[in-house]
Amino acid sequence: MSRANEPPARFEVGRRIGWVGDTMQVTISSGNNINGTLVLPLFEGVETLPEGFEGVPLSLKSQINRVLEDGDFKANANTTMTLMGTDGGKALLIGLGKASKAEAHTYREAGASVVTSLSKMHGNELTVAIHGASTANKAAFAEGMMLRDYNYDDYKTQDKDEEKPNLAARINCEEKEASELSATIERLSAVVSGVHLSRDLGNCPPNDMYPMAFAAKAEAWAKDYANVKVEVIDYEAAKRHGMGGLVAVGMGSARKPCMVIFTLNGDIKGRHPVLVGKGITFDTGGISLKPGANMDEMKYDMGGSATVFGTMHALASSGYEGKVVGITCMAENMPSSNAQRPGDVITTLSGKTIEVLNTDAEGRLVLSDGLWKAGTDFDPEYIVDFATLTGACVVALGHEATGLWSNDDDFRTRLHEASKDVSELAWPMPLLPAFEKEMTDSKIADTRNLGGGRWGGANTAAAFLKQFVPNRGEGDDAEQITWAHMDIAGTYWGAKTNKMVGNGATGIHVRTMVKFITGE
Ligand code: BES
Ligand code: ZN
Ligand code: ZN
Repeated sequence: MSRANEPPARFEVGRRIGWVGDTMQVTISSGNNINGTLVLPLFEGVETLPEGFEGVPLSLKSQINRVLEDGDFKANANTTMTLMGTDGGKALLIGLGKASKAEAHTYREAGASVVTSLSKMHGNELTVAIHGASTANKAAFAEGMMLRDYNYDDYKTQDKDEEKPNLAARINCEEKEASELSATIERLSAVVSGVHLSRDLGNCPPNDMYPMAFAAKAEAWAKDYANVKVEVIDYEAAKRHGMGGLVAVGMGSARKPCMVIFTLNGDIKGRHPVLVGKGITFDTGGISLKPGANMDEMKYDMGGSATVFGTMHALASSGYEGKVVGITCMAENMPSSNAQRPGDVITTLSGKTIEVLNTDAEGRLVLSDGLWKAGTDFDPEYIVDFATLTGACVVALGHEATGLWSNDDDFRTRLHEASKDVSELAWPMPLLPAFEKEMTDSKIADTRNLGGGRWGGANTAAAFLKQFVPNRGEGDDAEQITWAHMDIAGTYWGAKTNKMVGNGATGIHVRTMVKFITGE
């Protein structure tokens, strides 16, 4: 009996769901008392410890002052120093760089550097004393600590994170800002758990993360929320509905494809955002097989769907009351005797036919059904898709920015601004008619899944997707639904400059989308 579609014994559905939410515990206190290790963020040029610390042993105080006076700790950005008092007490000095250059992300990165600098000797209890920072910047510092406090060690049989007691950090603040700071940190903690969920899904090895396993996780997750619904369209249903793109990509694998639809606050009337994700749980390229080097990284090819799931979690757990729909297109792209071939012509959910010239350009095939479904089954205010779509996007932007395309310039600018606000850069890219024309030039079908040449591959891919965004209205009144495409091939993993991430999946754009959707 084949067990290919059953979760292996060690895979417990929802195992990490229990973990979601147990990010570092951050509390606030309106006072100056110090418990555990004192975390002291400082700007360049500060020469003495600010007044008013209670509970810091004298020897530690004078040690901090000596180090600052002598210029031994210059407080350059992203530098840290640990000090230990001779009569007890420990301090972790954190450099914030120049005060004139400080912005929210400076504090976020400084918060992250606390976590990277911690060792056993600092203990599990921290008190952060940030003098002169706004409430928002104190919250950003806490956010940085929470974001960076992540390890993917599910598969380590020793030294497991669970066996270590969780970190608890307290942020000292002024009485008058206490309630605002505490509410902000609570909301940010929910959002961070969405980022960590996305990272978990992405980091999960592809033998355990396959389309129906993702669906099972989504169903298990939904049980915790009365205002969330998860619908799974399995392989048989996808075939019945005519999802030719999803079926063609997934049919070569023993682990069959599916579409998972998340609805938050479905009872709310009116137009709402719809998010669509590429969810290739492993991309071998199919019959157009990829070269072997670094192929393991193609487990991250479901990063778009992880972004969607993570965002749904962030919104649901932070109590967002608007309606949002997420559509994740899940498939494993494998070569086999059941796999699609280069040269096949498939009929997608939209009715449009595609000549498949390269089976490795599979993301656009599954998204063609997801985008069409988004615009025809729902009434979207806008659609945003997320996809690790092209190597060409990584060539264009490296690991520093996501590629951002839209059929509406103003909408694209607003998304770009939201991405900048949270320091998850998405950079505007062109959606030109010439690119679209290149993708419709098939001799035997309506469209083709490959451009005419190798140039501008990220742009031709975006132009291809545009053809599957439905219009609203009929005849002369018809207008294409507002849509944006984010190519996260370079940013979903591998960004060495992202200080919120040690290694593996980044969970990018959960925070962007929370900011964009909720305004906070
Ligand atoms: N998943 C890949 C894109 C990718 C490649 C992401 C490298 C991150 C790193 C995608 O399915 C793919 O293989 N795209 C092809 C398209 C080509 C055949 C038109 C590519 O980019 O080479
Ligand atoms: Zn591919
Ligand atoms: Zn792919």
